[in-house]
Amino acid sequence: MEMYRRTFAEINLDNLRHNIRVLQTTFPDAPFLCPMVKANAYGHGDVQLARFLETLGIQHLGVCLIEEGLLLRNFGVKAEILVFRGFDREGAEKIIQYNMTPVVSSWDHIEHLESVASSPVSIHLKFDTGMNRLGFRPEEAQKVFDRLWQNKYIRLKAIATHLFNGEDGVDPNGQSARQLKTLDQISKIFKPFNIFCHALNSAGILSKAALLKKGVSKDHPLFLQNWGLRPGLMIYGYNPLPQDNPLDLLPVMSFKSHVGTYRHLKAGETVSYGGTWKAEKDSVIAVVPVGYADGYHRILSNQSSAVFAGQRARVIGNVCMDYLMLDVTEFVQGKDLADFKDAEVTLFGYGSDGSFLSPEELAKLAKSITWEMLTSVGERVPRVYTGLDASFIAEEIGGQ
Ligand SMILES: Cc1ncc(COP(=O)(O)O)c(C=O)c1O
Repeated sequence: MEMYRRTFAEINLDNLRHNIRVLQTTFPDAPFLCPMVKANAYGHGDVQLARFLETLGIQHLGVCLIEEGLLLRNFGVKAEILVFRGFDREGAEKIIQYNMTPVVSSWDHIEHLESVASSPVSIHLKFDTGMNRLGFRPEEAQKVFDRLWQNKYIRLKAIATHLFNGEDGVDPNGQSARQLKTLDQISKIFKPFNIFCHALNSAGILSKAALLKKGVSKDHPLFLQNWGLRPGLMIYGYNPLPQDNPLDLLPVMSFKSHVGTYRHLKAGETVSYGGTWKAEKDSVIAVVPVGYADGYHRILSNQSSAVFAGQRARVIGNVCMDYLMLDVTEFVQGKDLADFKDAEVTLFGYGSDGSFLSPEELAKLAKSITWEMLTSVGERVPRVYTGLDASFIAEEIGGQ
């Protein structure tokens, strides 16, 4: 891969395989295990990860957009692809043409499918049990059943909902528990279709894993059914729960760069646009070729740190579109700067020295969430695949 500036996202396939194996062994009987690879697989490279996940026995993949599904199909992904976002008539045609599975969440969707289907088409149905974003209302369930039951082409395979507060998953009286009970009720209406149900995102899955670990009695709504699983964040190595992670997950992405140049500042001089950081003493500044256009949020200016030479160096001055600056004075003092030429900088993830800086920490500083830190890593940042199966990616697909 051509890379003229050494800024990249390292994607560790061994860690991804580990996370998937943990899921497969914790829930060996799940009726549905559908890793979410929408939004470029949370920034990790959707085609590469989808193809790799297939080698691990994954048979279902979740995307948001039809376009995302088309890309996967065009790169040879054979797994069942669930398209979670809505669609119009043209979208319904594409979904059918490319053998994808629509997650139907409105009467319009049913109408579009009815108007274009001329052979059996599998669908999943989404119910709104509290998120108030997409899906049929629970009270519409019987009417939806009646409509689908008399359609000769539409084959209902599953019904689904989305937890809007999965963080309360372990609470038997929480919002998630209420949502699961509602979906369980709805599922009774659809029994004649021989459906299964899916509802658990990472927070739901990890809540269930936590209960399993504790040996909690199985009357919790997380055990009402053998719920299908739609893991997103957790397969990339992170735990959205406020509690400790009940599963041993390993972060997959490390966002890295290398120092472009050093500058010597006199006390009183400032750094970057607006001069928001002023040197209190003579200082050495590392200029790192990564900026907000690469997904390093500007709100982190003068807030965060990055790992430089195995130590935490403060991000100083305003983060620019293409650069950020680190105060490395104390780490290079009395040393030959030539020894730090092209030094590695870890923005998050693992450094080559074994250090780890979590994107969760950056998310807090940026008043954001881990999902956003991962998905923000920019298009112009090459993804570099590492691990035992990296050659599979290189041979089958190539880099980004
Ligand atoms: C419908 C649906 N299911 C599952 C997920 C996965 O969520 P998480 O990344 O929290 O596991 C998402 C992500 O937003 C989603 O939209």
